[in-house]
Amino acid sequence: MELEIEGARREHLAGVRDLFMREGWRSYAADQERTWRALSAPGTIALVARQRGRVVGVAQTLSDGEIQAFLTVLLIAEEHRGAGVGRTLLERIAHRTPGVRLDLISCADGFYGALGMRRVSGFRLSRERGAE
Ligand SMILES: CC(C)(COP(=O)(O)OP(=O)(O)OC[C@H]1O[C@@H](n2cnc3c(N)ncnc32)[C@H](O)[C@@H]1OP(=O)(O)O)[C@@H](O)C(=O)NCCC(=O)NCCS
Repeated sequence: MELEIEGARREHLAGVRDLFMREGWRSYAADQERTWRALSAPGTIALVARQRGRVVGVAQTLSDGEIQAFLTVLLIAEEHRGAGVGRTLLERIAHRTPGVRLDLISCADGFYGALGMRRVSGFRLSRERGAE
């Protein structure tokens, strides 16, 4: 099935939020306007994957434009997993993101390992109660 990868636009927002809600990513699901501000913030790139017009995946990176970049979001709809959508979306956004390295906090070690990424240790300070 044809997979379209494109820059996230406001018209994709309802589909993107649905992905976050279904995955229980509350920080992103709680407030659509806040999520849009986050996804369209300066220094970020956000892409969506669509099949038959429906949003089936979303990814976002944050970069200093020169050296360091972070993968801040990667989420594929559950029923579309295991079909290469995550790999395609990550490869596309990594290609478009400036910087010489891309770091991330993983909750899918096997996936990133399968893509040949090197494991390093990471930490997170959460500022929202109950945040994922
Ligand atoms: C992790 C996630 C993005 C993977 O997306 P996907 O579309 O299912 O992955 P792909 O089909 O592109 O898989 C690419 C490769 O990774 C492997 N892979 C995918 N998920 C894996 C997992 N959980 N464990 C081990 N390997 C995995 C696949 O077997 C495939 O390997 P291959 O190319 O050698 O056959 C998706 O499962 C997801 O959205 N999960 C919930 C949210 C999440 O954890 N996001 C990551 C935030 S850190």
